[in-house]
Amino acid sequence: MKNLTITAIINEYQYDELTPIDQSLIDTAIEATGRSYAPYSRFSVGAAALLANGIVVTGTNQENAAYPSGLCAERTTLFYANSQYPDQPVLTLAIAARTEKDFIDTPIPPCGACRQVILETEKRYKHPIRILLYGKQCIYEVQSIGDLLPLSFDSSAME
Ligand code: THU
Repeated sequence: MKNLTITAIINEYQYDELTPIDQSLIDTAIEATGRSYAPYSRFSVGAAALLANGIVVTGTNQENAAYPSGLCAERTTLFYANSQYPDQPVLTLAIAARTEKDFIDTPIPPCGACRQVILETEKRYKHPIRILLYGKQCIYEVQSIGDLLPLSFDSSAME
């Protein structure tokens, strides 16, 4: 038997420790939660993607009475960014989430389907996407989706 160990590196920051650019991207994701359409879960998620050309694209979760027809903020944002700027890699993706009461204390990581889409976006542009997950108590940073989706499936398996 062989044991394969996969290591994930997650950096934890206080808001004040972040660069002004990262703070601003998180502020934009926080602000975006106000444009979420979440009448069913009442859980509002906002995302902000910084593109290589410096443009910041935002998106939010969009729910539907037929629940599976809705989409998470991360995928809304990436699909919009890739539709509008198909030649621009995403450098950083910031995500913020709140209940009706307040923003969450500790960051929520993206769901499995969003991780898979983030992976595809990294592969498509051959560029890692740094992810910033906002919580009131701390912010998590990963340098690439590989830290959240080890042992992943991508198109290389089909070659
Ligand atoms: N949601 C996101 O937008 N991103 C995540 O990473 C997790 C969940 C949304 C989907 C749904 O609209 C609501 O949050 C509750 O699951």
